[in-house]
Amino acid sequence: MEQTLSIIKPDAVKKNVIGKIIDRFESNGLRIAAMKKVQLSRADAEAFYAVHKERPFFGELVEFMISGPVVVSVLEGENAVAKNRELMGATDPKEAAPGTIRADFAESIDANAVHGSDSLENAEKEIAFFFARREIL
Ligand code: CMP
Repeated sequence: MEQTLSIIKPDAVKKNVIGKIIDRFESNGLRIAAMKKVQLSRADAEAFYAVHKERPFFGELVEFMISGPVVVSVLEGENAVAKNRELMGATDPKEAAPGTIRADFAESIDANAVHGSDSLENAEKEIAFFFARREIL
């Protein structure tokens, strides 16, 4: 069993498709172990995406992530990290395979509906960023 972090980003929250995205997870063998809706501060978004701080898109990424509330979840299941990435599709929705979350709900590489941890090591760090142990059940 693995755990991974999912963020439903401000674009998808504004579109009112939280439930449709969660259904993709639950219908494909992932269980919601924790979940909350959060308005990230600028400091939160900068810290969460610190790994990208030298990238040219960092400023826009932070602005976008604080533009409205997000829904953060811990997804649990067999190969949860890879499974979530498969369900999300490619980072750029123009390249995302048909039927993936980003192909169906995302507009652009910035407004790309969801984030998912890219490795088990990062999943542990990202889960700890948002959730206390007692919130993960
Ligand atoms: P996410 O999985 O949340 O991780 C970092 C985010 O940066 C990514 O999704 C995209 O929304 C955003 N981003 C914007 N431009 C790029 C880019 N050129 N390459 C990768 N990520 C980008």
